[in-house]
Amino acid sequence: MQMVEIIQKKRDGKELSTEELQYLVQGYAKGKIPDYQVSAWAMAVFFRGMSPQETADLTMEMVRSGEEVDLSSIRGIKVDKHSTGGVGDTTTLVLGPLVAAAGVPVAKLSGRGLGHTGGTIDKLESFAGFSTSLTTGEFVSQVNDLGVAVMGQTGDLTPADKQLYGLRDVTATVDSIPLIASSIMSKKIAAGADAIVLDVKTGKGAFMKEEEKAVELAQAMVAIGSRVGRQTVAVISDMEQPLGLAVGNALEVKEAIDTLKGQGPKDLTELCLTLGTHMVVLGGGADSPEEARRLLEEKISDGTALAKFRSFIEAQGGDGRAVENPDAYLPKAEHIVEVQADRSGTLATLEAGEIGLCAMQLGAGRETKDAPIDHAVGLVLRKKAGDHVKTGDVLAVLHANDPTKAQRVKERFLQAITITETPVEPPRLIRAFVT
Ligand code: URA
Ligand code: CA
Repeated sequence: MQMVEIIQKKRDGKELSTEELQYLVQGYAKGKIPDYQVSAWAMAVFFRGMSPQETADLTMEMVRSGEEVDLSSIRGIKVDKHSTGGVGDTTTLVLGPLVAAAGVPVAKLSGRGLGHTGGTIDKLESFAGFSTSLTTGEFVSQVNDLGVAVMGQTGDLTPADKQLYGLRDVTATVDSIPLIASSIMSKKIAAGADAIVLDVKTGKGAFMKEEEKAVELAQAMVAIGSRVGRQTVAVISDMEQPLGLAVGNALEVKEAIDTLKGQGPKDLTELCLTLGTHMVVLGGGADSPEEARRLLEEKISDGTALAKFRSFIEAQGGDGRAVENPDAYLPKAEHIVEVQADRSGTLATLEAGEIGLCAMQLGAGRETKDAPIDHAVGLVLRKKAGDHVKTGDVLAVLHANDPTKAQRVKERFLQAITITETPVEPPRLIRAFVT
């Protein structure tokens, strides 16, 4: 086989065989095929696309390029949830204990965040003592005993994806639906998922700004799942504005606790129930979406989900008292600064990406890979898109440890929103389903 022939075939819009994709991916991972040939192929894919079979083959070859997490000793169907990335997205913290309380195991490999705010591990490390450095053995027994565990990623999962993503980044070939879809799905499959629930975000704060593109990406991922025997469903959800009210690590933990008590923000609660319903159905915990949703609502109202959260935090060394009393036991910022509306009208937009950057500037997110973060800082919205506001109303509360930064962020926040004279409908939270 010759790489030049593979490039030529794709350039001319033909379909590559399973063997050709295997040759390409494994050859690239082993350093036998140079970057320039893989770049040429990626650019051909960008213009010509890939068939569903090619996309599935590429995915599985990337899975095979590295280690795979073996979750077979965990009883039951392992359902993973993946979000394409949003601002203030606290769903994983809620869904872990909630879905486990409904009887479906949650075995989650997670990472730290880059940009905006922290990742799931950063948020969980708001609990004093919490650790995600579990051995695979500890991880598996905790999921079997408790129903939920979160482990930091170790091992070399999907090295070919890492390599290819790096190359795409510098060759203007990131924005290709089949390449994005296979990249995301390969990581979930290598992490041991039997079934996958995707939360594909759309809007200004999302990777896929346009709804049609988000749907297209979701369809590509669902098609991969069905070809490789991992049932996959996708929810397309709004990321014009941040999800929920809190953006920042400990602040989002508190928001997750409120949500598990049934007192969370409406949008976060609704998205968690929607994603959780799919997780429970795919995991075999209920026969219908209606039954799954009823079960989840019951686990919230009878306190089981919250109790599960506390057991989970304590099992991984965290101070569980913070679950009962977040104000006393979670990190707290020194300065509280209110941001007030400078005019009356309707809060029309709160640009999610910019608000994420406000939280990052306060110290909640990392600018570089190994930078430290401040768990206490961030912001809590008091108003969301569509709300009527009067001059002087508090729009958001900044939690800061540096008063100079807080003043700068206050100005930045006001730039990130628009207040209009005419009423505006809030963006719809759930846009579509792809199954
Ligand atoms: N996120 C990924 O993991 N892969 C892509 O290709 C794009 C976004
Ligand atoms: Ca939030």
